[in-house]
Amino acid sequence: MKAQKIIIDTDPGIDDAMAIHQAFADSRLEVVGLTTIFGNVYVEQAARNALWLSEQAAYKCGVATGASKPLIQELNTPSFHVHGAEGFGRLEDIHINGTLDPRPAHIYLSETLRAHSGEIILCPVGPLTNIANLLDYDPDVVNHVKKLVIMGGAVHVPGNVTSFAEANFWNDPHAADKVLAADWQIDLIGLDVTATLQFPPAVFEQVAKTSPRIGGFIYDICEFYIDFYEKIVGKRVCLMHDPAALLAISDPEIFTFEKTPLSVIVSGEEVGNSIVSENSGRKAVNVAVKADAQAARQKFLSIYAEADSAYLKRINDEGE
Ligand code: BDR
Ligand code: CA
Repeated sequence: MKAQKIIIDTDPGIDDAMAIHQAFADSRLEVVGLTTIFGNVYVEQAARNALWLSEQAAYKCGVATGASKPLIQELNTPSFHVHGAEGFGRLEDIHINGTLDPRPAHIYLSETLRAHSGEIILCPVGPLTNIANLLDYDPDVVNHVKKLVIMGGAVHVPGNVTSFAEANFWNDPHAADKVLAADWQIDLIGLDVTATLQFPPAVFEQVAKTSPRIGGFIYDICEFYIDFYEKIVGKRVCLMHDPAALLAISDPEIFTFEKTPLSVIVSGEEVGNSIVSENSGRKAVNVAVKADAQAARQKFLSIYAEADSAYLKRINDEGE
């Protein structure tokens, strides 16, 4: 079977790094490109980190830099306390060899989605500013993307930055609202499910064992993230936000969806809140409301078990 083409719009970030390496390792997916956004780090760092991850896995894909600030509101301070000073926990000062795509992310997205019309799933796992800019720049792009699978929002559950808002929506609520209002198919993987996917350190010990290069890196950076979650949830676990969005593409049967139109509150106390808006006239979003945690863990482990052999195969193919 042909691999599903995807583009990940990302703010790496520890769970972003997990999701990106998961996608690189999964032979059912073809990562066409990575576009980057502020959020967990500033956008310049996000771009460097994304390029570095692709080099670490010897995975050839475009990497383009996106917006440095939200559409309207002020830029929030990046989540250094969650992801580390440069996005990868205690790891700092990474070095990249390759070059970034010269196009801004929204232009890269427009041209790439049109070049593969109807074939690409766009998977944003950061604030949605690049996707809102894409809609402004190329409104007809809605007819060229296969669908969007977004990590963001908290529909029937509390937020994680405020009691109302999830981080990606909170970081650019105007962009999130614009993206949810557009006429394209969206699967929303929000805190309703990602906060229920709490993986213990044993999972990362196993990925480090089965794939020492890639899984070992994930294990190393995870410690910082697990330290953070220990303070929040009172036990040593990792909440699998961005990897869940990738699982919703590769293994959608893990999730139960409910169909409902949504909007996002853009100001006031509830800024960033994603709310059901039945009479808005908007297209219904497929909101993930339940996840099979056991199945998600099994899939995650089996995908990561292939990460190093997939890397070695790419190195060998390059040398031939
Ligand atoms: C989301 O916010 C970021 O910190 C994570 O990378 C994830 O995309 C979770 O709310
Ligand atoms: Ca993210």
